[in-house]
Amino acid sequence: MTFKHDKLENEKKDPTEGNSLKFINVPLVLIALFLGFGVSYLALRTPNTSFTPGDSRTPPESAQTQKSNDAKNDGNDLSAMMEKGKQVFTTTCQACHQANGAGIPGAFPPLAESEWVNGFPKRMVAIVLHGLQGEINVKGQKFQGVMPPFKDQLKAEDIAAVATYVRNSFGNKADLVTTELVNQVKEATKSKAASWNGESELNGQKWE
Ligand code: HEC
Repeated sequence: MTFKHDKLENEKKDPTEGNSLKFINVPLVLIALFLGFGVSYLALRTPNTSFTPGDSRTPPESAQTQKSNDAKNDGNDLSAMMEKGKQVFTTTCQACHQANGAGIPGAFPPLAESEWVNGFPKRMVAIVLHGLQGEINVKGQKFQGVMPPFKDQLKAEDIAAVATYVRNSFGNKADLVTTELVNQVKEATKSKAASWNGESELNGQKWE
């Protein structure tokens, strides 16, 4: 037999212990998961990364590449020259003549399919050595800009490499330029102080 009060008592929900803890546990569990992940990540990761001093940029003219390229370059090996020439082009010529050698109309003449690039190798070397200003026509377009000289900035083998690279890139197909040839042009034009004065001065020289 039941009393009214007992019945009421029975209909109450059973008290469950720590019910309110659920609300505390959610962030606690998340924090524990994050901490657990962090700790196990640090503990389990294999420290096999090789650390090299300095930032991760590869300097184009780093001593080592330079040395190995010089060694390879002794025989004017075409693929080594192309590789080195590309480096020199990227750091020295690309800002003006563009990565694809197309130049910028009205400002910087194209090297792609240029008659000055594919013509006399000595003439092209002479342009890079001494720079150029004044009027020049390239592929039927007139340019009147200023290209700085590179004779003090680039070594003879760098100029040979970049000339070889340009003469065999961007659709160009011309014979390679040797370090000896660059030195010949250097010697023949060593008294030259100013840049070439446009195509009029270039056309007045003997390049063969
Ligand atoms: C500061 C910009 C600049 C840089 C850097 C530069 N040039 Fe030029 N280059 C010019 C300009 C401008 C002319 C045309 C000059 C004129 O109008 O007389 C020119 C002309 C030439 C020409 C003859 C015209 C043609 O288009 O074929 C060649 C070849 C050439 N540059 C090669 C190079 C090479 C190789 C390098 C890198 C070693 C280089 N230039 C770096 C601006 C530059």
